[in-house]
Amino acid sequence: MQQKLEQIKSEAMAAIKSADTPESIEALRVKYLGKKGEITSILKQMGGLSAEERPIIGALTNEIRAELEGILAQKDAEIEASVLQQRLVEESLDVTEPGAEIKFGRQHPMSIVLDEVKDIFIGMGFQIAEGPEVELSLYDFDKLNIPITHPAREWQDTFYIAEDESVHLRCQTSPVQIRMMEAQKPPLRIISPGRVYRKDEVDASHSPMFHQIEGLVVDRGVTMGDLKGTLNLLVSKIYGSDTKTRFRPHNFPYTEPSCEVDVQCVVCGGTGCKTCGYEGWLELLGAGMVHHKVLSGCGIDPDEYSGFAFGIGADRMTMLRFGIDDLRLLFENDMRFLGQF
Ligand code: DAH
Repeated sequence: MQQKLEQIKSEAMAAIKSADTPESIEALRVKYLGKKGEITSILKQMGGLSAEERPIIGALTNEIRAELEGILAQKDAEIEASVLQQRLVEESLDVTEPGAEIKFGRQHPMSIVLDEVKDIFIGMGFQIAEGPEVELSLYDFDKLNIPITHPAREWQDTFYIAEDESVHLRCQTSPVQIRMMEAQKPPLRIISPGRVYRKDEVDASHSPMFHQIEGLVVDRGVTMGDLKGTLNLLVSKIYGSDTKTRFRPHNFPYTEPSCEVDVQCVVCGGTGCKTCGYEGWLELLGAGMVHHKVLSGCGIDPDEYSGFAFGIGADRMTMLRFGIDDLRLLFENDMRFLGQF
């Protein structure tokens, strides 16, 4: 029996030494020292021993058991320490390492210019208005004195939504003028930036969706001089105080008289270059004195009130502000382009 005990001991020692997980240590504890373990079963057989043998074997068994318990506890602690060590290595954080770079977004060039324009007009007492992009033809055409025969109303120019041509994607921001005049009594001073839609093919200067900034002033005694003063101030604030403007006669059904406003080419300074088509001037907006039919159609007495209105090409204005030569760059969301502003 002594021999058997020694054999169990050396087997157990070897097994414990090569164990490397807390689970395998526990399994060995059960195998040798558990209720049905090998050492325990030796103790159970003690009854069959002689009176001389019993204390010897008893003492030896207890000794081996104590030894195994000790070595199991030691191995357990070793494994726990190495697991902890491994976790410390794996989960360590080097606070001196540079962090991952956070990319900040930037304002889109259109938004930069729009914010500048809004600031300038708010400074002159204007309010910002909004109108729907899906608009009634009544507001985008009829009430603006644009007759059914006008080419802008043709199917190849306008995105109609209703078969009967009563609803479409607005082709200008001018219908916001009508909405404001119907909703409020003069004096009125508003600008209204937004998207507009026309059936244009995409190229460097055209897009089926682009942006305008509408403006409207209605009050007693408003003159063409007020229109010129307001727009000249806008141009000088956006493009610099020495930028020249040119007011050219034009025709819009909803203004009389009407004009188009050019700025001296910001690229060549007026001497003529590719950007301005060697003209020295770049067209920026349409404007005029609100037509008496438009005023009276909105319930405003044209004998008492007068007003001026304008529509700025916002994309154009942005391109000229930053020297951007292709409209598509504004809509393509290329970070190499957008990151420059
Ligand atoms: N709606 C015109 C366009 O899309 C621009 C315009 C011209 C707006 C004259 C106006 C205006 O308010 O009075 O080309």
